[in-house]
Amino acid sequence: MSIPEEELERGRVVAVDVDGEEFVVWRGSSGALGSAPRRCPHLDHDLVEGHVAGDELVCPGHGWAFDGCGQVYKRNELGRVDPKGNVDVLTLRVEQGTVVVDPR
Ligand code: FES
Repeated sequence: MSIPEEELERGRVVAVDVDGEEFVVWRGSSGALGSAPRRCPHLDHDLVEGHVAGDELVCPGHGWAFDGCGQVYKRNELGRVDPKGNVDVLTLRVEQGTVVVDPR
């Protein structure tokens, strides 16, 4: 499957279905693309409703942050960063103005 690049401007999150599995794809402020499963592994909030902070996607539920490469963190207001494990990611590449999602 593919996503036109104009649908993925910086700060935008889109939902994609890859072989029946739901994911989200976003573009961070640096222009980097990230991905994660659509449902947060904490308490199942929908990550398509998350917001992009830097290159991370932040869950609307309780603020877990997804780095787009499979790492998940909880950042608290005092600066502490607690790792929350790993999640699956998609293999993404840009070809002629289109973000191509490789089959899993
Ligand atoms: S449901 Fe995502 S951080 Fe709690």
